[in-house]
Amino acid sequence: MTIGLGFIGVGNHGRHHLHEFSRLPGAAPRLVCDLNPAHVEAAQRDFPGTTAADAATLVASPAIDAVVICTPAESHRALVELALAHGRHVLVEKPLAHDPADARAIAALAAAHPDRVVMVGHCERFNRAYLDARRAVTDGEVGTPRFIAASRLSPLHLNNRAWRLGPLDTAVHDIDLILWLMGDRPVSVTARAAERATGAGWDHVTYDIRFAGGALAQGHIGWVDFRNGYPLSQNAHPRLFLDGTGGSLTVNLWQRPVAVHNNQANRYFWPDEVVIGYGDYATVVTAADAAFLQAIAHGGPSPMPAADAATALAVAHAAWQSAREDGRTIPLPPPAP
Ligand SMILES: NC(=O)c1ccc[n+]([C@@H]2O[C@H](COP(=O)([O-])OP(=O)(O)OC[C@H]3O[C@@H](n4cnc5c(N)ncnc54)[C@H](O)[C@@H]3O)[C@@H](O)[C@H]2O)c1
Repeated sequence: MTIGLGFIGVGNHGRHHLHEFSRLPGAAPRLVCDLNPAHVEAAQRDFPGTTAADAATLVASPAIDAVVICTPAESHRALVELALAHGRHVLVEKPLAHDPADARAIAALAAAHPDRVVMVGHCERFNRAYLDARRAVTDGEVGTPRFIAASRLSPLHLNNRAWRLGPLDTAVHDIDLILWLMGDRPVSVTARAAERATGAGWDHVTYDIRFAGGALAQGHIGWVDFRNGYPLSQNAHPRLFLDGTGGSLTVNLWQRPVAVHNNQANRYFWPDEVVIGYGDYATVVTAADAAFLQAIAHGGPSPMPAADAATALAVAHAAWQSAREDGRTIPLPPPAP
């Protein structure tokens, strides 16, 4: 079975998906769409065999089964609606939306299309380190989680100051991991932010999440100018500590064992010991994209459901609101059913 793919948004991360799907068995990238003609041209040059199309033509094309949406968060809802209206499977990037109501609407739409795979690009869920941590929690190795601290420094040049949530756009990875590991309902969020240069936009945000059962999460996300520190400049530096009633666990990806940067292709990867049974190396994005293809081939379920991403977005959005108000506690609504 070959799955035909159309890509809407082929900037930085859309090209990363194009690269991964181009080498995954069973996937055929066919159509590319972007509002920026230079990005379309570059994608067609680097991925021969792809054809340019506008979004409406792309989703309607019989050549594609699935759409990969890699545009800024505000545009996700309309594009997911368009893709599902044409019966396509959807891989949409995180954060699921900017507005939590849009994220809930996407989750409701996914629920209304149970025969389509709607997956969100929370690729860290496919990182072996976090899969091991999750298994330790579900196996009862640490008892009931009561506290978690998560910190991630992300290279500024892989992010975009135009993203409305600022560094919290990147923090949704950790927020989703926190919710996944803690297994309790988040009830309120408090956050504060700092700028490196006045007026330049937030570079660091700290956030606290209180859970219904009294547990606490403490997060820190930073956008850092790592450019001169190659090879680690290409990597996010995440760390996590979880304490429970029966034990504790740590994840430390501060120093990746292997990091590769191809200057000519401006492509980087860090294998992260993700083993998925083919090829000679894989990144978390490879693993996430492979899981998307497998879910389509097997008729679901979604490897990263929109409902989970909507809850993570609600927390990130509340942190964004709180940081704008210098630390006011923002209560969270109950998660969408
Ligand atoms: N999962 C991850 O680890 C990860 C990493 C980086 C980025 N992302 C996410 O991917 C998304 C895109 O990020 P990026 O770094 O590629 O940004 P980018 O700015 O490099 O690329 C976005 C592209 O979308 C295009 N675009 C915008 N609106 C469009 C529309 N309506 N139709 C068609 N094209 C449109 C822009 O012209 C641009 O080329 C964001 O949501 C971001 O958070 C995820």
